[in-house]
Amino acid sequence: MNFHVLTLFPEMVTSGLNTSIIGRAVENGIITLEAVQIRDYTLDRHKKVDDYTYGGGAGMLMQAQPVYDACKAVQDAITASGRKPARVIFMTPRGHVFNQKMAEEFSKEEDLIFLCGHYEGIDERVLEEVVTDPVSIGDYVLTGGELPAMVAIDCISRLVPGVLSNAESANTESFQNGLLEYPQYSRPEEWMGKKVPEVLLSGHHANVEKWRLEKSLEETLKYRPDLYEKYMAEHPPKPAKKPRRKKVLAKPEDIC
Ligand code: ADE
Repeated sequence: MNFHVLTLFPEMVTSGLNTSIIGRAVENGIITLEAVQIRDYTLDRHKKVDDYTYGGGAGMLMQAQPVYDACKAVQDAITASGRKPARVIFMTPRGHVFNQKMAEEFSKEEDLIFLCGHYEGIDERVLEEVVTDPVSIGDYVLTGGELPAMVAIDCISRLVPGVLSNAESANTESFQNGLLEYPQYSRPEEWMGKKVPEVLLSGHHANVEKWRLEKSLEETLKYRPDLYEKYMAEHPPKPAKKPRRKKVLAKPEDIC
């Protein structure tokens, strides 16, 4: 997987992602991360990339030309290497809200371009021209698209085969089944007077799984009732088995 991030703050993206698990995947060549400075593509002799918005209003807007040229340069390099043009994900509070399903879909791509806006946003005309997927990370407004792009890249990367070790990937099912994760415990068995739940020490695999599902359901009901309802609609509880009645043959004297 090759990530290309178009930004005015490339060092923010590289320093944030070149550590820990994603940093290791970059080092191992499983993913590549290219942060492209949009300013390098401006034709303005003062290296300006923003201007006032038509119609008035506070703040500056990123101009179409440098964004378009930066994006085109990246797409041209991708196609020159024999790969198909990449989807262009624009990080914006005006987009579809990012979720695990979208991450799974994006993780199957060979290249992804992330476009990060700053200031008041980006001229609409270039967005119409280059963006395939406007994506938000939630209903709140950040100062720029870099942190949202890093969130999406982290989430997508861990789904790319080889990025997580076996031990790390054992923990991937928790959210993917549509429920929040159950609580987990490590040594010691007792800490600050709090004991690890008995069932987790029992070694009884089926009981542990049952307890984890119950806890997952409890957590989801408490913190995400929307997800709980969806899960219950998709997994209706099995009706309790009726006790089988013995067939009683009528005695001849009962039949009139
Ligand atoms: N840029 C600013 N806020 C954002 C958000 N919530 N999601 C994606 N990009 C953004």
